[in-house]
Amino acid sequence: MYKIAVIPGDGTGPEVVREGLKVLEAASKKFGFKYESKTFDFGGERFLKTGKTLEDADIAELKKYSAIFLGAIGHPDVKPGILETGVLLKLRFSLDQYINLRPVKLYNPVFCPLKDKKPEDIDFVVVRENSEGLYKGMGEFQKKGTKDEVATQISYNTRKGVERCIRYAFEYCRKRNRRKKLTLCGKTNVLTYAWDLWQRTFNEVAKEYADITTDYAHVDATTMWFVKNPEWFDVIVTDNMFGDIITDLGAMIQGGMGIAAGGNINPEGVSMFEPIGGSAPKYTGKNVINPLAAICAIGMLLENIGEEKAGVAVEDSVIRIVRTKLKSLAAGKMGYSTSEVGDLVVRSL
Ligand code: IPM
Ligand code: MN
Repeated sequence: MYKIAVIPGDGTGPEVVREGLKVLEAASKKFGFKYESKTFDFGGERFLKTGKTLEDADIAELKKYSAIFLGAIGHPDVKPGILETGVLLKLRFSLDQYINLRPVKLYNPVFCPLKDKKPEDIDFVVVRENSEGLYKGMGEFQKKGTKDEVATQISYNTRKGVERCIRYAFEYCRKRNRRKKLTLCGKTNVLTYAWDLWQRTFNEVAKEYADITTDYAHVDATTMWFVKNPEWFDVIVTDNMFGDIITDLGAMIQGGMGIAAGGNINPEGVSMFEPIGGSAPKYTGKNVINPLAAICAIGMLLENIGEEKAGVAVEDSVIRIVRTKLKSLAAGKMGYSTSEVGDLVVRSL
């Protein structure tokens, strides 16, 4: 019996989570596994009512679950930063979900903004470090509010943190068993402390993986290759900030935010799966948002808890409807409503 914690969150989160749960239910019937789910109300509305984001007791409770399914965090009436650090980053950090795994896969070339790129050209995975770097929240103001003000924001990289991320990426690349190529994406030419540590660690760990071809690309060049030659990539490993930035571009070349899912992974603990698109306030409550990213997140969740066949079947169903039914992957243009798209996936499954 799996225990799934559900955090619908803000904006369109609840709408897409509803469709994800429909697909989870259908998959459990088809593949014969059992689960129970519990919904938690963390997010903007709760914060506005109670002033609370996420307490230590909430974290302790979540640790009892097999996995977490998250909709979106971010509310127009809450100052930027409060919910992001108080809910989303707190979940990632306190559950030590040190990997953010973001597949970039084109399901239907019609939805690709790049000319002449086919599904086999856009099929790679970004392994984003998810617990350190610029996201650590280190830094300070000096002389705040004066004309001599200085703000520092520190990128914090530990050998242990970097090494566990790089090892995960090598293992993942081997298990994925495609082109067996791992690219380190960094900025060794300017950020000479952090990326020296990353590069040294990468080179050392690489010695244990003779079957994996290694490569290096600066982050700025990486964004260029994503557009020019995405077929060069198989697995990319990078730090928290660069991973955040390049995966938004990755989402666009796979067809947009409507289809991009990710997993916040603690290989030894509780992992959390989410559509990466955010809360999309302007589409909230209209039944027009694309739920496929959330449904793909359910597919990743299933693979993570050990229901691999079910996970693959969910992704295959998404691929089928993206290739044969949807007019667009963008909100309001799909040719179907949010709930109809969920129904299509269930039927296809
Ligand atoms: C993401 C988001 C988050 C991040 C924000 C909402 C804190 O952009 O998951 O990519 O920066 O990690
Ligand atoms: Mn982001």
